[in-house]
Amino acid sequence: MTIRHILHFPDPKLHRKSQAVATVDDEIRQLVDDMLETMYDAPGIGLAAPQVAVFKRVMVVDVTEDNSEPLVFINPEIIESSGQEKMEEGCLSVPEVYELVERAEQITVRALDREGKPFEMKADGLKAVCIQHEVDHLNGKLFVDYLSSLKRTRIRKKLEKARRQAM
Ligand code: NI
Repeated sequence: MTIRHILHFPDPKLHRKSQAVATVDDEIRQLVDDMLETMYDAPGIGLAAPQVAVFKRVMVVDVTEDNSEPLVFINPEIIESSGQEKMEEGCLSVPEVYELVERAEQITVRALDREGKPFEMKADGLKAVCIQHEVDHLNGKLFVDYLSSLKRTRIRKKLEKARRQAM
């Protein structure tokens, strides 16, 4: 397993739409394993393939404190959603920024697992928020896209400044 490099906002590649996976093969399973390792190392609770510059519809989630429930979603589709809730979100591609985003409270998601087998899952709370956030990544959308352009500009300047200071 390999820890992969995570792209940071405002990298335009993060706005690219990812393609469906045609076959869940060893290459995809390698990607899944690397993504889990990269997410746990960061650490984070979710990671989508475009964040590591692979534009395929693959994402991983684990909202537990002890990394005990790794969830793998290939070609995920949210087929039902209900309710509304506002939660503070962050993103491994937008480090050290946390903002309130409104999402559906409960969802049902359909996807393929690591073996290519279809499954459906109901989720609510943090897990539902995280799944919606990662599906957005596959569509080239970041949580900062829900904020005002003024706020987004401030965040971009903050991250650009942090990057210059790190050089
Ligand atoms: Ni994210």
